[in-house]
Amino acid sequence: VPFCRDRCSYCAFATLADDPALHGRVVSALLRELARHEVEQPWKTLYLGGGTPSLLVPELLGRLLAGLTEATPARTEPPELTLEANPANVTRERLADWNALGITRLSLGVQTFHDEALRRLGRLHDANTARRALELIATHWPGSWSADLLLGWEFQSHELLAADLDELSRFKPPHLSAYPLEIEPGSQISRAVQNNHIDISNISHLYIDISLFEHHLAPANLRRYEVSNFARDGHESRHNQVYWANAEYLGLGPGACSSRGHLRWANHRDTRTWLDRVEAGRDARVRAERLSPSQRLLESLAVGLRTEAGVSKRQLDARFGDAWSGVLREAARAPLEDLGLTQTDDRLVVAGDERLRVDAIMGHLARSWPDDEPVLS
Ligand SMILES: C[S@@+](CC[C@H](N)C(=O)[O-])C[C@H]1O[C@@H](n2cnc3c(N)ncnc32)[C@H](O)[C@@H]1O
Ligand code: SF4
Repeated sequence: VPFCRDRCSYCAFATLADDPALHGRVVSALLRELARHEVEQPWKTLYLGGGTPSLLVPELLGRLLAGLTEATPARTEPPELTLEANPANVTRERLADWNALGITRLSLGVQTFHDEALRRLGRLHDANTARRALELIATHWPGSWSADLLLGWEFQSHELLAADLDELSRFKPPHLSAYPLEIEPGSQISRAVQNNHIDISNISHLYIDISLFEHHLAPANLRRYEVSNFARDGHESRHNQVYWANAEYLGLGPGACSSRGHLRWANHRDTRTWLDRVEAGRDARVRAERLSPSQRLLESLAVGLRTEAGVSKRQLDARFGDAWSGVLREAARAPLEDLGLTQTDDRLVVAGDERLRVDAIMGHLARSWPDDEPVLS
């Protein structure tokens, strides 16, 4: 759902200035796009993201959810159904509406409680609006929920990060995603960095301070179950775990990405172009790639080893047969040993703080990875 009231200075997602006249068209087009795909399996999780899907009125969200349910096979167990929400859109009435629609989980973009930082990040809301939204959710929301924090913004110090973690902990969030600020090409911040108008040298520095997170999140009972994600037991995001297991997902809407079998593709990012194509019954995809088994294996390790649970050897066997252990032995042994990779009967796991190095090591490994089939585009 691509709409945003305003564009945050760091964000380069496929978004569009809010235009309520287009909301109904986008919902119809999402359902029309779904109809182009064969969905044989009942889905386990649905993530309404964007953009700001909480801008849609409940009637339209209801139409979208009903359409998605009608067009796909029935499920036996209740799915996880997450709605991304901006603190500026949270009211007691809306919480009741979302609950009545069957949303089971909210993801709230808090980012920080520092007003000057929120202003410079171009956020719509101030810290008090976020506090009010958190208070409402903590008191009245019956489902699970998560808060997003942004790490490493311009003048964030250890003390300011600790203050954000302490303040968030007071609301006892069942889940937290803490994302280091990425300087995305095309964002306002990337232009400011290029022109030396802001200094972002503290990004990675803050990120690796493990003890700071452990200490300040302890009152909320949050466990770091993935490099950037923390949860109370039983509140781990089922949706994110699909990505970390490198499993299949279908993305609908402008800029959405999908992964199925050995194919991966992305939709056109421009909302009007995506709308025109879908409404004309045309393909809205702009890029597709066919991944070789060894690229898939590399990715499965790169994302799976970021998690506390690691990678299931049984799943690797099922997907890659015996080949995977051979490839692992050959190309990946030294870098994975460097990470302290351990093997249990069923899993490959990188322990504790070492998980923060998975990205860097896997990037290095990717550059020397045996490329048995070229990537097509
Ligand atoms: C689609 S937004 C969440 C919903 C709503 N649009 C909002 O911002 O409140 C998803 C998350 O991605 C984060 N995000 C966007 N651009 C980012 C960047 N360049 N670096 C790190 N996080 C980013 C946002 O801060 C937000 O918490
Ligand atoms: S961070 Fe969220 S609200 Fe801000 S521009 Fe990106 S999608 Fe929109």
